[in-house]
Amino acid sequence: MRKKISLVGAGNIGGVLAQLIALKELGDVTLIDIAKGMPQGKALDLSQSSAVELFDVKIEGSNNYVSLKNSDVVVITAGIPRLPGMSRDDLLETNTKIISNIGKSINKYCPNAFVICITNPLDAMVSILQSSSKIKKNMCVGMAGILDSSRLKYFLSNELNVSIKNIETFVLGGHGDTMVPLMRYTTISGIPIQEFIKNKIITQKKLNGILKRTRNGGGEINKLLKKGTAFYAPASSAVQMIESFLKDKKMILPCAAHLSGEYGVKGLYVGVPVIIGKKGVEKIIELKLTPNEKREFNNSVQAVRELTNIASKLL
Ligand code: APR
Repeated sequence: MRKKISLVGAGNIGGVLAQLIALKELGDVTLIDIAKGMPQGKALDLSQSSAVELFDVKIEGSNNYVSLKNSDVVVITAGIPRLPGMSRDDLLETNTKIISNIGKSINKYCPNAFVICITNPLDAMVSILQSSSKIKKNMCVGMAGILDSSRLKYFLSNELNVSIKNIETFVLGGHGDTMVPLMRYTTISGIPIQEFIKNKIITQKKLNGILKRTRNGGGEINKLLKKGTAFYAPASSAVQMIESFLKDKKMILPCAAHLSGEYGVKGLYVGVPVIIGKKGVEKIIELKLTPNEKREFNNSVQAVRELTNIASKLL
C-alpha cells in the first residue's frame, strides 16, 4: 500500500512539496488548507500532470483536518507570513494558535505519523507542535538546517566554481540570524575549506561574506520576491527528510530536534545533526565544539529558548 503524506498548508511551499513528492512517487498526497477550493485546485492541476510525468500517486485537496486521518507523514507549512507593519510577536501569536490547533488534530487523526514543521518561527513552532500533538519527540522535527546548509553549499560551490556535489557543510543552532555554520566541518571533495584559504583560492574575507549571506538567506529572497518568502529550497529540504524516513535511508541531516541533555541543552528544539530513518530521529549526533563555536551555539540556543517560552505562554 502506498504511504499517505499530508501537507497542512497548500501555499507556495505546500504546492512545490506536493509536486516533488509526486515526481518521486513517495506516496499519496493530501493537501489541506483553510483557503476554500485552493488545495482542491492544486491537487487537480498536479494530478493532471501525471499524464505527462507518468507518476502513479493520488493527490487530493481538502479544507478539513479530518483528512489527516491515517497519515504516515505530515508536513506543516500552515501559517501567516510576516507582513509589513507586523511585529515578530504578532506573527508568533497567530502561528502559535494555528500550529497548536493542527497539533491537536494530528493527535486525533494520526498520532503515529512522522511530523515535520516548516512554519516560522521554526524552532518555537516545532516545540508547540510537539506539545499540542503529543507526538513522540523523535517523530516530530523541524526543517531548517538542511535549508541553511544548502544555501551555504550553493554559495561555496558558486564562489569556488566546483560542483555542488563536492561541497559538504552544515549549520547548527536556531533558524535565524544566530545560526552557527561549522567551518571546521566544511569540505570540498573531502578537502577542508581551510586548505582553500591557505592556498589563497578563497580569502577569509570572502568566506565571511558568504556566511553573512547564508545567515540572511531567507531575507535576501524575501526582499527580491517582495510578496512571500523562499519556497523551492525549503520544499526540497523537507522532501529529503521525508525520503530518509520513508525509505529508512538513515541520512545524517541537520534538523530541529528535541534535545534532552545533548549539547548541554534540555527540553528544547534546536538544530543539530540527526540520523533520520524509519523510527524518525534515530540518533542525535553530538559533536565536541570549540569554545568559540560553543559560545555561538549557546547564544543561538538562548534566542530559541526566549521565543519558545513566549510561544508556550500564549497557549
Ligand atoms: N490551516 C491550514 N492552512 C492554513 C491555516 C490553517 N489554520 N492558516 C493559514 N493556512 C494556509 C494559508 O491559507 C496558505 O495557503 O497556509 C498557507 C501558507 O502558505 P504561504 O503563505 O504560501 O506560505 P509558504 O511560502 O508556503 O510558507 C509557509 O513556511 O518557511 C515558512 O516562513 C514560512 O511560515 C511560513 C511557512
